[in-house]
Amino acid sequence: MHDPTHLKLGSLTLDVPFFQASLSGYSDYTMRLFARRFGCPFALADVMLAKSMAEPRVLRKACFRPGIDEHPVGAQIMGETPSVMAKAARDLVAVGYDVIDLNFACPVPKVLRRGRGGALLAHPNTVIDIVKAVRESVACPLLIKLRIGTDHQPVSQDNFWEIVTRSIEEGIDALVIHGRTVLQRYRGKADWDALARVKARFPSATIIGSGDIFDPLATVELMKRTGLDGFVVARGAIGNPWIFRDLRCVWENRPVPPPPDLAEQREIMLEHFHRVLNGYPEKRAIGYFRKFVVRYARLHPNRKQVTITLMKAETRAAVEAGIDGLYGGNEAR
Ligand SMILES: Cc1cc2nc3c(=O)[nH]c(=O)nc-3n(C[C@H](O)[C@H](O)[C@H](O)COP(=O)(O)O)c2cc1C
Repeated sequence: MHDPTHLKLGSLTLDVPFFQASLSGYSDYTMRLFARRFGCPFALADVMLAKSMAEPRVLRKACFRPGIDEHPVGAQIMGETPSVMAKAARDLVAVGYDVIDLNFACPVPKVLRRGRGGALLAHPNTVIDIVKAVRESVACPLLIKLRIGTDHQPVSQDNFWEIVTRSIEEGIDALVIHGRTVLQRYRGKADWDALARVKARFPSATIIGSGDIFDPLATVELMKRTGLDGFVVARGAIGNPWIFRDLRCVWENRPVPPPPDLAEQREIMLEHFHRVLNGYPEKRAIGYFRKFVVRYARLHPNRKQVTITLMKAETRAAVEAGIDGLYGGNEAR
């Protein structure tokens, strides 16, 4: 570990060695805003398809642009054509993103069938062509997100090491590696020993780990054991922005506060819901917010009741009344 208290992403230095991962369908402005509010120094937006981002009309939509109050913030792009990836990166920097991250990790079958995301781990030359093209097109910090291989076959391992070696040679600023193969998707435990081997082989490269980050205290041991430079928080942050408050306390040697009480959970859930309502029509907003509800519910002593009640709520008033009833907010409204 170079410096366990900071994380350098090229010209950008974070004051703690973690940030919020890209989470398709979740890591929108609101999730990033909450992460930041609770102490996360940097967050990545949802993955964006390079082909679409290269269209000026798409990039005019607010949902693809960073908020003015959320810097530094990163854009992650996915695609298979170097020139298209390079143009998308340039355009995303032009609309205000501070960091570009290239996705070679997504295991979704539809993405793999199109030869994108994790499929590219089987094609080191294409990965490197993309890295070169993007590196030439933007001066900002450039990251790549990958997994520890397509699968555990020797040929996949060779491809993985070739991608790691050559992307570092091409001047990538950091590698974010999810300790599972593409074939594994999210099954099994993330293999942090495999990540430690990458760091041992490339001690001066910035290697950031991903996988099963849920327990703030355990991350200290993980960083010590693996020697990695940092880690990203992914599923652990959905419906739990307090994880960043706790991680920051751990890193600043302060006691971890007790979990948020119901009143604080209620406040954040309502704010989250209202922010979603600002971006979508009511019915869609409720559907979208439900994905977060199931995660917020985990902090409630009666998780099942929260899930059942809020999954049934079909109007804004019903969601609000449900939250109030479950989180003791009736007196406050
Ligand atoms: C719903 C979901 C969406 C994700 N979307 C992305 C994405 O867009 N880009 C990416 O690089 N990783 C994505 N990931 C992977 C995470 O960033 C992370 O690497 C992975 O979940 C392992 O970390 P965790 O076990 O701590 O969640 C996604 C994961 C989940 C569960």
